[in-house]
Amino acid sequence: MTRGRFITFEGGEGAGKSTQLKRLAARLEGLGLDVVATREPGGSPGAESIRELVLNGAADRWSPVTETLLMYAARRDHIERVIRPALERGAWVVCDRFADSTRAYQGAAGGTDPALIAAMETYILEDTRPDLTLIFDFPPEIGLKRATARPGAELRFESKGMAFHERLREGFLAIAKAEPGRCVVIPADGAIGAVEAAVWAAVEARLPVHV
Ligand code: TMP
Repeated sequence: MTRGRFITFEGGEGAGKSTQLKRLAARLEGLGLDVVATREPGGSPGAESIRELVLNGAADRWSPVTETLLMYAARRDHIERVIRPALERGAWVVCDRFADSTRAYQGAAGGTDPALIAAMETYILEDTRPDLTLIFDFPPEIGLKRATARPGAELRFESKGMAFHERLREGFLAIAKAEPGRCVVIPADGAIGAVEAAVWAAVEARLPVHV
């Protein structure tokens, strides 16, 4: 059996990623594919417990290095229990955030040494790497307003201030520029239908669907 496909959705706050992820998952399922839609931090029971710890409380509850370790503890559990088994059985895994969020939030915006993050990628991800990463680009001042207005929002990162969120946006764009073979930037400030069309165009171009 061939390995499945691994697509990650990345970007700042309130860019509409989660809505688009649901739409893509539904479209792939409509083609008869085995689809696993998941998210980080979280996606497995253990990783969801770590999510509770890391996304709630005061902005300075954890340092960026501690956050990196927590994100990678959660990610390893998610990979072992959900992502790898799904890819091995041939499923398409669509994941709301993955390793690029650690590079951007804890690294570019938080100041964690990129060498630590690179080591985590080597030892914790191993060969579980996305085939395609969609980077949703959106003005942080609008995204933050949207994200904080959501009922039940987990607001630790939203409370880090505008300068943090500007660095974050630049961090994601720098990842896209450095890895154009894996990443596609999706301008996310258009109508929902237009963004959905851009997502589908990127998937079709990079990962042709054979059913
Ligand atoms: P979300 O469900 O709104 O995308 O929230 C997840 C939050 O966690 C978001 O603020 C980004 C943050 N995050 C990191 O800081 N590092 C990571 O590695 C991941 C996966 C998420």
